[in-house]
Amino acid sequence: MSNTSTPVLGSFVRLADLAPDEQLLVHGSWNAAERAYIPLSKFPVGAALCACNERGVSKNFFGCNVENRFMSCVICAERNGMTSAVAEGYNDLQKIALVLKLYQGPGASPCGLCRQVLIEFGRDAVVFQAADPERNVWRYLVRDLLPAASGSLRALADLEVSDRRQIGRLLKLAARAYTPYSKKPAAALFTAFNAAGVFKVFAGVSDDNASYGASASAEAVAMRTARTAGYVRQPSLMLMVDDPKALNPVEGESLQVLREFGTGSSVTLVGADGSSVCSNIGELLPDSFGPESLV
Ligand code: THU
Repeated sequence: MSNTSTPVLGSFVRLADLAPDEQLLVHGSWNAAERAYIPLSKFPVGAALCACNERGVSKNFFGCNVENRFMSCVICAERNGMTSAVAEGYNDLQKIALVLKLYQGPGASPCGLCRQVLIEFGRDAVVFQAADPERNVWRYLVRDLLPAASGSLRALADLEVSDRRQIGRLLKLAARAYTPYSKKPAAALFTAFNAAGVFKVFAGVSDDNASYGASASAEAVAMRTARTAGYVRQPSLMLMVDDPKALNPVEGESLQVLREFGTGSSVTLVGADGSSVCSNIGELLPDSFGPESLV
């Protein structure tokens, strides 16, 4: 069965029309998926990438998903492959092929965390995402996975009083952040309705950890507090970012957490001076991997 009519990121390219080295990566990703360690999900994912070292020499690396009985210790295929490359000194990502072996429809794309790791090493790298069991692909660039918000920048003074107040609260809240390692205090406000139709605002601040990877972003704290309280409907997120108009304004992991609340969330990006841009999860995490992908 082929999913060629399904609209996803990028353009459809037949396996036979790819360059020989690219075909090799595609086959490598399917082979890597065979080695997936997946006692939890039984959902094999494979990645094969080409990266260059400092001398411009290129080499291929492979990754599969490696699961753990503690979910937060699971690593995806793409990150596994990329970190293997870095461990050998090949930090300059050129091309990556990936396959979600059981599913090639919309959202058969890297998750937010993998997007964040890939963009660190090659924003202009080419992605070949499996499009069907015949190994044809969707082709796009890594930077397409974490784009800038398209909305216009609004000055704080031009906003309505209620929005100004909320942004003021957000910026003040950042003083409570615990950021001894990142030195980037940030805050987030997540608003949603509960099943009874009650609307509430949940706050979060960034919470660093000496092990770095165990740190929580402000927005993740806010979203998870809301879920704990049962507020998951019509979500909207407001958060502090370095530059509301930049590429990749929000950490990929945070977008992946927001994605779990559905595909309709609005996101307001707020700079340190209170200027803001309105966006949404569909724009910031296009063709996202989500619960529907795990069918
Ligand atoms: N997974 C990946 O390896 N890459 C992705 O981009 C999406 C998800 C893995 C993680 C987990 O082992 C399983 O697929 C289900 O999410």
